[in-house]
Amino acid sequence: MSRTVAFIGLGHMGGPMAVNLVKAGHRVRGYDLSPASLKAAADAGVEPAASATEAVAGAEVVITMLPAGRQVLELYQDIVGAARPGTLFADCSTIAVADARTAHSRAVSAGMRALDAPVSGGVVGAEAATLTFMAGGGEGEFAEAEPLLAAMGRKVVHCGGAGAGQAAKICNNMILGISMIAVSEAFVLGESLGLSHQALYDVASTASGQCWALTVNCPVPGPVPTSPANRDYHPGFAAPLMAKDLGLAADAARSGGVRAELGLRTAELYAAYAAGTGAAEDFSGIVRTIRDQSGEQA
Ligand SMILES: NC(=O)c1ccc[n+]([C@@H]2O[C@H](COP(=O)([O-])OP(=O)(O)OC[C@H]3O[C@@H](n4cnc5c(N)ncnc54)[C@H](O)[C@@H]3O)[C@@H](O)[C@H]2O)c1
Repeated sequence: MSRTVAFIGLGHMGGPMAVNLVKAGHRVRGYDLSPASLKAAADAGVEPAASATEAVAGAEVVITMLPAGRQVLELYQDIVGAARPGTLFADCSTIAVADARTAHSRAVSAGMRALDAPVSGGVVGAEAATLTFMAGGGEGEFAEAEPLLAAMGRKVVHCGGAGAGQAAKICNNMILGISMIAVSEAFVLGESLGLSHQALYDVASTASGQCWALTVNCPVPGPVPTSPANRDYHPGFAAPLMAKDLGLAADAARSGGVRAELGLRTAELYAAYAAGTGAAEDFSGIVRTIRDQSGEQA
C-alpha cells in the first residue's frame, strides 16, 4: 500500500533511506536544513518541502533521522501540532532512551502516535536497504510502521514499549565497542609476542574469541580484506558515532546504577579517540592508539 510519508533529516542516513521509500512506491515529502541534502534527495525522487511543517501537513507517517536528541525534541515541539491527528511519528535517529520517551509523550499529548526505530547498518545499509531497525512503541504503531521500515531495511525487530528500540541500540553498541577494544588489545598483545595477525585471526575467528569486530570489521589489515583497516581506516562506522552511542550507554548505566565497568571505560577511550586522531576514522582505528600508547610498532 502506498503511503504519504514526511521525511525530515536527509543526511548520510536519511537521504538514502528516503530514496528507498520512493523506490518502494511511497510518496515522500522531504525536508532538511541543508539545501544540498534536500537537493540530492529531490534529484532522486523525494518531493522537497519548504519547511518541516509543510512536509508533515497531510502526511500519514512522519519519519525523522536527525543528529541527536536535542534536534528531535526541538523539531517535535514545532511539528506535532502541524500534522493530522493520529499521524504516526517514527524517529529513526539514535538518541537517549529518556529523550525517546519524552518525544513519544510529546507526540501522544498532541494526539499523534509514536515509535522509536533506531537503526544499525551504517550508510552502506541505508543505501542498500539492508538496515536493522529496533522499534519501541505499541503493537498497532509497530504494525503500521513495519512495511515502511522493511522497505528501508532487512530486519525489523519490535523490542517493546516506548524507548525500547533505543535501549536495544545502545546495549548492542556497548557490546560492539567493548569487543572492538578487546580484539584490538589482543592483536597488539600478539604483535608484542611475535604472533602474526593472520595466525591470531585464523585461531580466534574459529575459536571462542570469534565476534563481529574480528571477523567483519577486523582492526588490522590483511585477514579480512573488506574491513576498513585495509583502506587506512576510512569509515565504515565513524569513531565519533561510536563515541556518541557509548556516551548514551554510559549515561544510561550511570543513571540506572548499573555496574558496567567495561562499558564506562570503553566510552572514555572512544571519547578521547574520537576527539583526536579518530575524528574522521572508522572506530576500528583505535587499534593504532592502543599500539602507539603501548610503544609498539606493527
Ligand atoms: N551514519 C551512520 O553510520 C549511522 C548509523 C546508525 C545510526 N546513525 C544515527 O542516525 C542519525 C543520523 O545520522 P547521519 O549520519 O545521517 O547524520 P547527518 O548529520 O549526515 O544527517 C542529519 C541531517 O539532519 C539535518 N537536520 C538537523 N537538524 C534538522 C532540523 N531541525 N530540521 C531538518 N533537518 C535537520 C542535517 O542538516 C543533516 O542533513 C544520528 O542520530 C546517528 O547517530 C548513523
